[in-house]
Amino acid sequence: MVDEIRFDDKVVVITGAGAGLGRSHALAFASRGAKVVVNDLGGSATGEGKGSNAADTVVEEIKAAGGEAVANYESVENGEAIIKTAIDNYGRVDVVVNNAGILRDSSFKKMTDQDWDLIYKVHVLGAYKVTKAAWPYMLEQGYGRIVNTASAAGLYGNFGQANYSMAKIGMVGFTQTLAIEGAKNNVIANVIAPVAGSRMTETILPPELVAALKPEYITPLVMKLCSEKNEETGSIFEVGAGWISKLRWERTKGVGFDISNGLSPEAVEESWDQITDFENADHPTTAQESFVPVLANLGIKM
Ligand code: NAI
Repeated sequence: MVDEIRFDDKVVVITGAGAGLGRSHALAFASRGAKVVVNDLGGSATGEGKGSNAADTVVEEIKAAGGEAVANYESVENGEAIIKTAIDNYGRVDVVVNNAGILRDSSFKKMTDQDWDLIYKVHVLGAYKVTKAAWPYMLEQGYGRIVNTASAAGLYGNFGQANYSMAKIGMVGFTQTLAIEGAKNNVIANVIAPVAGSRMTETILPPELVAALKPEYITPLVMKLCSEKNEETGSIFEVGAGWISKLRWERTKGVGFDISNGLSPEAVEESWDQITDFENADHPTTAQESFVPVLANLGIKM
């Protein structure tokens, strides 16, 4: 039997917590004793407008259930103000879940600079700003848990989502480096690629699927990754409908060419089957490890 996962005395900041996944996370953390900052800009699914309703409603729900929460209505682009709400009200920040998001879907041919920039601002700049503001507190207290939100569109690409794919795969590299830099101060960071029914997916998924893919099936993984005992860090998870899986890079064994006389494109072409053959593949987990065969081809052993 594992111990019950609790967040008593922990201060948890969840962005975009006025609806969908963020709302589910906020209610669940609060129900396990956390003091929650419910951030939500309260705009549309494509990033227009703003309002206090979304965040206020979730704070009321938490309080009605006997929990502790405070609302914040800033855009994640103003991350300092969101973390300030945590510090001013509760004096610390232990957990950040970067979850806020919008979509500006369009084929790449029709995508405007505004579609590209807005997605960058909310997902990439937003996650950066909130994390950057929380980071010194986490390092100082020797404790922090961060979960970033990616997407299958980022991991695999998806028609009409060049902007969103760029932003979401950005969460992967961002998380992995945070995990490396946070390790010695007990700051842990992971990234999830969820699938859930929400206003974001209700326009693309049939209603039965939207109803079946409950946000509540995503939250338990987020809570496990943010728990005090969790040691998993720098990892990517796909999660939805009660299915949870860890993802890693796989690299073919590769071909080390004799470069004493240079390297021609024809030599590359000739070895193509071998270059792309996943038999005996490996799974590097660090940049250093990934360089090993590169340097080996120069006769350098690491
Ligand atoms: P949602 O639209 O229900 O919730 C997103 C929330 O973020 C909204 O309440 C919205 O007001 C808020 N928000 C938007 N821009 C903001 C900003 N600048 N500052 C603060 N809050 C802002 O969508 P959902 O599905 O709950 O999405 C949550 C996260 O999960 C997003 O990052 C999304 O990209 C990601 N995701 C969701 C998937 C799904 O299947 N629902 C699939 C893959 C990723």
